[in-house]
Amino acid sequence: MTKASDVFKLKNANNVEVTFIGRGGQITGITVPDKDGNMDDVVIGYQSVEEALAGDGYFGALCGRFSNRIVKGQFSLDGVDYQLECNNTPNHLHGGSDGFNNRVWDVTPYEESRFAQAYKLTLVSPDGDQGYPGEVKVEVIYGLTDENEMVIEYVAETSKATIINLTSHAYFNLKGAGKGTVEDHQLELNASKYTPLSAELGTVTGEIAEVKGTPMDFVDTKAIGETVNTDDEQVKMVNGIDHNFVIDGYDGMLRLAARLSDEETGRCMEVFTDQPGIQIYTGGHFDSSETGKLGNPIEKWAGVAMETQIFPDSPNQDHFPNAVLKPGEVYKHTCVYKFSIQ
Ligand code: BGC
Repeated sequence: MTKASDVFKLKNANNVEVTFIGRGGQITGITVPDKDGNMDDVVIGYQSVEEALAGDGYFGALCGRFSNRIVKGQFSLDGVDYQLECNNTPNHLHGGSDGFNNRVWDVTPYEESRFAQAYKLTLVSPDGDQGYPGEVKVEVIYGLTDENEMVIEYVAETSKATIINLTSHAYFNLKGAGKGTVEDHQLELNASKYTPLSAELGTVTGEIAEVKGTPMDFVDTKAIGETVNTDDEQVKMVNGIDHNFVIDGYDGMLRLAARLSDEETGRCMEVFTDQPGIQIYTGGHFDSSETGKLGNPIEKWAGVAMETQIFPDSPNQDHFPNAVLKPGEVYKHTCVYKFSIQ
């Protein structure tokens, strides 16, 4: 039986190391080289497992059953109305206050030749868990390749029709966690559209808008600071970027969704996914009140989360991708974080 505080490590031939714990499968560190071969941990978080267990439970965690927000926690399925917990007033966020990030996943070593090292994480979410219908069995593979790819593969099945949207919530800072903000990180998104937010709803309006002419345009590479430091209404509302981007050319196959890089260290991270959306969150709620890695305060914009997923509030938006999972169907999701030097 895995314990909340159990620590697991993945290592490859290049000394890249991924560390995670039993609670939430929380990725507590990814150590990668810079252009001069210096190693830094590029995942923001705390200095110890004890602090991780007591602190922000979303850092690096596996989120579900439905990641991101559902308006007022309400949805209907097969003629039945469901009311989920509104743990992020007025909405439901990341599966509720006892979401998958808060569960101790069962972790076992996993072997496959494409991985230098891998683990399988499993979780059974009972029928009615957090108000969701159906017993859902989830399997997640965390695999590290010798090409410096952190591969996350999700598979889930249900006993009754339900909704599902799983993601991974690591915040990245390619300078190294605790070494400043991501304002001068360059970001490129394979997304010419995004889903704007409404202050009143606290999440998406249902509109799918062009990024062209807005601060959300990352079709051509630009610094994150150019967006988060503007007075734009969408930016002010969430203290930075906290938006879902619609991945261009989505067809259910793995494709490049995002590229993040830092000139100073030469580090680059590409995100590949087979999902239709990616939530970019620059951590606008961090207020330096907590101490993170290197003993430094976790400040606003200390890292950027790049959460591959289905769009927020999809269960209530017919024109958004389908989030319903029925018995006999298999939910599948792959996310690859590939580290390189540019
Ligand atoms: C959401 C943020 C939220 C954060 C919680 C992100 O996925 O987009 O709005 O505050 O999770 O850690």
